[in-house]
Amino acid sequence: MKFDRSVKIAPSILSADFANFGAEIQAVEAQGADWIHVDVMDGHYVPNITFGPATCAAIRPHIKTVMDVHLMIAPVDPYIQAFADAGADIITAHVEAGPHIHRTLQAIRATGAKAGLALNPGTPAEAAATLMDMVDLICVMTVNPGFGGQKFIHSCVQKVTELREMIGDREVHIEIDGGVDPSTAPLVVAAGADVLVAGSAVFKGGSVENPAPYGENIRAIRDSV
Ligand code: DX5
Ligand code: ZN
Repeated sequence: MKFDRSVKIAPSILSADFANFGAEIQAVEAQGADWIHVDVMDGHYVPNITFGPATCAAIRPHIKTVMDVHLMIAPVDPYIQAFADAGADIITAHVEAGPHIHRTLQAIRATGAKAGLALNPGTPAEAAATLMDMVDLICVMTVNPGFGGQKFIHSCVQKVTELREMIGDREVHIEIDGGVDPSTAPLVVAAGADVLVAGSAVFKGGSVENPAPYGENIRAIRDSV
């Protein structure tokens, strides 16, 4: 993965057809997706359950771009190797998920995957201050994690500005996750974000049989920034 800060759209399969992930991934990549965002939820760290390493391994062959795995689980460490073995290119852990986030990031990088750090809306940018050289991506949650289709939390935009300043010229992506659409995307890109996760805003109105809306929705977000 060569680093560049060009804007990337990363559809979240949380909003895709759970009975047809492979075909949905192929369709949304064909319609212009840059990365595929994979939301893993354990029903403990967040009040929802999605899927685990086995599903990630099953969908990996269908992903031609980047498999961006967002772990909304606690604890994280016992499962890192399984998600790396499943083929994750990026493994993102929540700073709030346990007491030893530095060790978690070390363990992610030790697998050869890129390391991501996710910050919930209530977590200040300073939580990442001592970890800037341990991460390849910082995921700024702009909704409280657990569900797609929620309302964007505008107070998180300032955090993007602060993180962009803290990152400096390090090769660290700023990813925005939650409520991204053509009205909110410009706000976060102006603040310094370069990866835009979008679930409901990309998958709305389309299907594997009728994928054109996926492309229209992706273009609408891309053209808005
Ligand atoms: C929420 C997930 C997000 C979510 C985004 O916990 O981490 O990735 O799927 O969905 P939208 O874009 O619909 O807010
Ligand atoms: Zn996510």
